Amino acid sequence: MHIVLNSPLDMHLHLREGDMLQAVAPMTTASFAGAVIMPNLVSPVDSPAKVRRYKEQIEAAGKSASFAAYMTLFFRNYSRAELAAVRKKIIGIKLYPAGITTGSDSGVTDFASIGGTLALMEEMQIPLLVHGEAGGFVLDREKEFLEVYLRLAESFPNLHIVMEHITTAEAVDLLDCYQNVSATVTLHHLLITLDDVIGGLMQPDLFCKPIAKRPEDRRRLRDAVFSGHQRIMFGSDSAPHPRHKKECCGCAAGIFSAPVALPMLAELFEDAGRLDLLQSFVSDIACNRYGLQPPAKQVILEKKPWQVPELYGKVKPFGAGQTLRWSIAA
Ligand code: DOR
Ligand code: ZN
Repeated sequence: MHIVLNSPLDMHLHLREGDMLQAVAPMTTASFAGAVIMPNLVSPVDSPAKVRRYKEQIEAAGKSASFAAYMTLFFRNYSRAELAAVRKKIIGIKLYPAGITTGSDSGVTDFASIGGTLALMEEMQIPLLVHGEAGGFVLDREKEFLEVYLRLAESFPNLHIVMEHITTAEAVDLLDCYQNVSATVTLHHLLITLDDVIGGLMQPDLFCKPIAKRPEDRRRLRDAVFSGHQRIMFGSDSAPHPRHKKECCGCAAGIFSAPVALPMLAELFEDAGRLDLLQSFVSDIACNRYGLQPPAKQVILEKKPWQVPELYGKVKPFGAGQTLRWSIAA
């Protein structure tokens, strides 16, 4: 038994730089036709020149002609001329509230001061991708940020806003209220809850931002995805950190799921009896929402057990050591 996926896309991916980029990029380019590349590098990707340079590095590391690196620019206030120069080179601009996660120190501190740039983005049809967490109690951060989404969606009705990596039932409710809003959801937020992270012995490999929430939140995300929601697309948020930065005091946030994403999604969709929706979740909805025409690439999953390696170089993958029912055909 096998599944053929046409041009699967990962709509939210961290690739890093240097040796880490060299190590992880091929794992995504092997099984995806494209990915939306996050700009939260140590020095954020916040200029047309940085976008160009980073894209070249990714293409060299990824070694695949049939892969599109959909670049994002790190949100700051930009002039019309800057946006005009970069518009055709990016898929969108990623907004981080300042200090909310890895590499976000130069993010937005004052949401009242960004209207000019958002209006330009709306006019130029540049999507806004958002890490939607506020600075309050960790389990309520996404919920507290929803009022910002609401204001943005109403003030800029022609701006395509993407709520990245949603984790709560309330986020699904808000998504349903605005046609100009889409969302990505990760594999791990469909699989785990906070219990898996800290309910027993603490699991640093499952620590990420936003943190996994309650069973009822996971239920709502699953219900939305398995009902074929037309504005929720797959974004892995695969975020590699070397093992010594995870298994230490002050564990870095991030789950490295790139090499296991498609086999694990197949398992999850099969268990839900909705394998018929996998193609749209991993490609068609994103193409539709963003107007993409990704490289043609067929990825075949076969029902052949595969044991996830314990380590890929210095990085421990999501599901390390587990035996999965599906594997990617060579
Ligand atoms: O868990 C996370 N890791 N969440 C983010 O928002 C950033 C990411 C990273 O870059 O490590
Ligand atoms: Zn991310």
